[in-house]
Parts: sequence; structure tokens; C-alpha cells
Amino acid sequence: MSTNQTTPGAVIITGGAHGIGSAYVDRLSADGYAVVIADLDEAGAQAKAKDVAAAGGKALALRTDISVEADVAALITGTVAEFGTVTGLVNNAAVFSVVPMSRGTFAEIELDEWDLMMRVNLRGTWQMCKAVTPHMARNGYGKIVNVSSGTAIKGSAGRIHYVTSKAGILGFTKTLAREVGADGIRVNCVAPGSTLSEENPDERTVEYRKSRVGDRALGRVQMPEDLAGAVSFFISPDSDFVTGQTLVVDGGACMH
Ligand SMILES: NC(=O)c1ccc[n+]([C@@H]2O[C@H](COP(=O)([O-])OP(=O)(O)OC[C@H]3O[C@@H](n4cnc5c(N)ncnc54)[C@H](O)[C@@H]3O)[C@@H](O)[C@H]2O)c1
Repeated sequence: MSTNQTTPGAVIITGGAHGIGSAYVDRLSADGYAVVIADLDEAGAQAKAKDVAAAGGKALALRTDISVEADVAALITGTVAEFGTVTGLVNNAAVFSVVPMSRGTFAEIELDEWDLMMRVNLRGTWQMCKAVTPHMARNGYGKIVNVSSGTAIKGSAGRIHYVTSKAGILGFTKTLAREVGADGIRVNCVAPGSTLSEENPDERTVEYRKSRVGDRALGRVQMPEDLAGAVSFFISPDSDFVTGQTLVVDGGACMH
């Protein structure tokens, strides 16, 4: 069986209806992939799929909660029914801003929110990988991109549950890469810096994002589009001999 993918296939982008995920959808569609927008927000996912189709791409919107096994199974069934198989997966959905997290010290975080964070950000990512890998293994080829955060490398006071979940993604990426390499599946990770991903940011949010600029070698506010090239590379055949890696995309705030 071939281990090289030469024609674009279908890529699932979780959380593709909004924020940074929406920029991944646009870029991967422009790269020639059929895109599957898997999001909690059904109307948002459908609107995004319409935009992709209007721009000449192929898109499928499927309402999905990545933390619910039955939703994940239906997503894979729907994707395979529409596009035949799955070539790529971008595990972008997380509790972050559309599904908001509260801020507080490590002692103030509520138990339910800690559990939600782990259920969506970590267990959801694991469930998605379990569901797509049999299809990729059958093709002898697949690309998975996980999404961590610069905060997992640097630490970030006031949201220990979020940072812990994103730190888990780093080890998850390396371990999964070792387990599925023999099947031709590559698993990499992108760690974004503080990104102005909100669609209608209030002044406080804009000020917060601006306050991160001073940490960077490249001194400007980070936008969703700044991340699209890294994900495009990890999904594309150009990265076929790269696996288990994390690329920090943050304008040079965190150098490791
Ligand atoms: N924006 C930043 O500053 C930043 C920094 C570092 C890492 N990240 C990471 O990048 C990714 C995207 O961030 P963003 O700023 O675009 O977030 P966002 O909150 O703007 O968008 C997240 C998307 O995921 C969807 N979603 C949430 N829970 C879901 C679930 N259970 N099932 C399916 N879909 C779900 C939401 O509806 C939304 O469309 C996240 O993994 C986030 O942790 C963001």
C-alpha cells in the first residue's frame, strides 16, 4: 500500500466554524482539500460551509460535540459517506472563548469546569483520533494536527485547567505519533500564541491581545491567518517525514 498521498483528500477541522479554526478551513480549502467543519455551533458551521462553497471549495458542515462519542462516530460516518475517506484531521476545537472559560487562581477553578476542560480539550482530541485512525491506516496514510498553546510551554497564571489540558496535548502528540507511525499516520502539533481570534472583540480583549506584543521578536498582534501556514504544512505531503513535532507559532515569544 502506498504511503504517499499525492492528491488532496478530505480534512476534518474541529471547531472550524469560528476563530482560528475558520482560518484553517479557508486555507485548507484553498490548498484543494475538501473540508469538514465539525462544530458545536451548527448554524455557524453551515454558514462557513456556504462561504467555502461560494469560493469554489468543497465543504461539509456537521454539528459535532467532540466530547460525545456518538457525535464523533456520526461525524466520521458522514465524512466517509460524502468524501470516501479521511486524509487529515485538525483537532482545533477547545473550551476557550466561544465556549468560554473562567479565570481564577488554581484554587478557585470549579470542579465542573476542570472536568469540562479535560473532557473537551483532551478526551475529545483522543476520541477524534481513535475514530479517524482506522480510515487513515486503511489508506496507509494520514495527517493529524493537534492544537496546544504557547501557555503550555511558558505557563500562564489564572487558567490552570486550560494550560494543563494544552500541556497534555504535547505528550499526547508524541505518544500517538509513535503508536501510529507504522500505519503511515503523521501526528504533529501547533502551539499558537495569544491570537485575536474573537469575531467581535470588545476593547478589553483587544487591549489584552496588544499587551502580548512586547514579548515577541516580531512585534505585532497575532491573527488567525498567522497560524494557517503551519497547519497547511503539517497536512500537506511536504511534511511527510515529520512526526511528533510541535511548532510554536507566536511571532517569537516562546523560543524552545
Ligand atoms: N486564540 C488564542 O489566543 C489561542 C492561543 C493558543 C491556543 N489556542 C487554541 O487554538 C484553538 C482555537 O482557538 P480559538 O481562539 O479559535 O477558539 P474559539 O473559542 O474562538 O473557537 C473554538 C471553536 O471550537 C468550537 N467548540 C468548542 N467546544 C466544542 C466541542 N465540544 N465540540 C466541537 N466544537 C467545539 C466552538 O464552537 C468554536 O467554533 C483552541 O484549541 C485554542 O485552545 C488559541
